[in-house]
Amino acid sequence: MRIKYKSKDELRALRDAGLAVSEILDDICKAAVPGATTWELNEVAASGIARLKVKSAFLGYQGYPAVLCTSVNEVIVHGIPRKDEVLKQGDIIGIDFGAFKDDFCGDSARTVVVGGQTSPEKQKLVDVTRESLERAIALCVPGQRLGDLGFAVQSWAEEHGYSVVKDFVGHGVGRQMHEDPAVPNYGKPGTGKRLKSGLVIAIEPMVNAGAQHVEVLDDDWTAVTQDRSMSAHFEHTIAITDNGPWVLTQAAPSPGSP
Ligand code: MF3
Ligand code: CO
Repeated sequence: MRIKYKSKDELRALRDAGLAVSEILDDICKAAVPGATTWELNEVAASGIARLKVKSAFLGYQGYPAVLCTSVNEVIVHGIPRKDEVLKQGDIIGIDFGAFKDDFCGDSARTVVVGGQTSPEKQKLVDVTRESLERAIALCVPGQRLGDLGFAVQSWAEEHGYSVVKDFVGHGVGRQMHEDPAVPNYGKPGTGKRLKSGLVIAIEPMVNAGAQHVEVLDDDWTAVTQDRSMSAHFEHTIAITDNGPWVLTQAAPSPGSP
């Protein structure tokens, strides 16, 4: 598959999808309180989908059974919401949501602290993971290379004593959730494909407090750290423009906003 660079009209459509995803994620994150189940979060996502008249990007994708991924503590990504999984004060939960609006996709994830307070160790992991994404986003200008983005994520995580997951990567986004190119969270500066205006990518660092190794549980989805250390995940869908990054799944304006 070749990279599909987007026109101005396509970027506007992707922005509408991204805004819907951001609005629904806001509601899901607010619902991640002590005592809530991850299934209840899936229901919040489903009602957002109905209200905003969008279509889930996850439900049915390679057989995935829900509209949301809920990845608690040592779960890296792809946790399946469950009625018997009750959130506790201080848990960290990765909430990953994607939807199509008018045939264009938005894909975004945030890790939130249940009840707002947790251990300094978990809080630091969440902060560093979010910062690693912000550093990569800042490089989303024409001429930078994918290796520069990967290095920005990897170096920030490793400087703090963490590891980045290499078994899963970010991706292009458009009429499909997963398009070319692959967007690794690791790399060497000055290597890889050059970013061009009109490229739309999802950058999604997964950072482990311990080692990088992944184990997939018997449900064939839930990806946990092999050493059962904590893990955090953030994701935005971003357009590369001549003015810089346009963070399509963030409501607030960014340098590339029109
Ligand atoms: N945001 C993830 C991704 O980009 C989630 C997809 S998993 C799914 O790959 F199967 F639920 F769709
Ligand atoms: Co993604």
